[in-house]
Amino acid sequence: MSERLAAKVIVITGAGSGIGAHTAATCAQAGAAVICADIDPEAAERTASAIADSGAKSAAVQVDVSDEAAANAMATAALEAFGKIDGLFANAGITGEGSAASLSLADWNRVIAVNLTGVFLSCRAVLPSMVDAGAGAIVATSSIGGLVGVPNIAAYAAAKGGVTGLVRQMAVDYAPDGVRVNAICPGTIPTPLVVSAYEQRNFIAGDVDDAFARAASRFPLGRVGTLDDAALLTLFLLSEESGWITGQSLAVDGGVSTAGWQVGQ
Ligand SMILES: NC(=O)c1ccc[n+]([C@@H]2O[C@H](COP(=O)([O-])OP(=O)(O)OC[C@H]3O[C@@H](n4cnc5c(N)ncnc54)[C@H](O)[C@@H]3O)[C@@H](O)[C@H]2O)c1
Repeated sequence: MSERLAAKVIVITGAGSGIGAHTAATCAQAGAAVICADIDPEAAERTASAIADSGAKSAAVQVDVSDEAAANAMATAALEAFGKIDGLFANAGITGEGSAASLSLADWNRVIAVNLTGVFLSCRAVLPSMVDAGAGAIVATSSIGGLVGVPNIAAYAAAKGGVTGLVRQMAVDYAPDGVRVNAICPGTIPTPLVVSAYEQRNFIAGDVDDAFARAASRFPLGRVGTLDDAALLTLFLLSEESGWITGQSLAVDGGVSTAGWQVGQ
């Protein structure tokens, strides 16, 4: 894996935990300098320090991706630290339980602000330097909830569906500038975000591992996802190996969006 992102500079939001933290480590192993951005500064620092300890280049930045000034400051910090931005993984997100009738406007607005507007602001912050360079790769984190109907996540599904639309649209706008834009659509991958969603659904009867074992039965490939499943697809989409792929929202979901959400139930 060592040369796949050699000399690249990659900004990752939501790098303090879960998919973002693991992808940050994966990109660093592949040769990239990684800007680890998160709303939780200690979590961002933990990921960046672990990368630095492994001998790769990294920096930590605190950002609330829903804040325009903070998203712009994140890009500025990356440019000051490493002089360029080759890739963005716009991955920060929050869970969002509730049907359309049960959601408060405040909950709707926050989920849209982080999961959709946050992707827009992060992309907008890095695009000028990518356009100047005539090259760049952006990967956003959508969800299978952005592709198929999943019960009781109205705001989350609207935001993630918005991400798949935004990715398509930006891919067309920025292809002439050499910038590719894609999304990953993960199925269930055990992280703090999913544990929080399961708690809100009362899906954890006892041990959290039992809940994930039950969830595995929904997936045609018979298991839930791993952090590697998401990180390795993202690495591919950030690297030049995917140089003729843009505008795509790729499911990494054990086949569940193909077969239907209720598989195994
Ligand atoms: N884990 C899954 O099964 C799954 C499935 C589909 C999509 N996703 C998406 O993957 C992404 C990563 O989620 P995860 O599962 O790794 O969750 P996670 O909770 O482990 O990590 C999310 C990270 O985002 C950070 N964050 C939250 N709000 C932020 C904000 N406003 N600004 C900056 N950082 C912020 C958190 O502090 C946290 O470090 C999210 O966009 C999520 O919607 C996850």
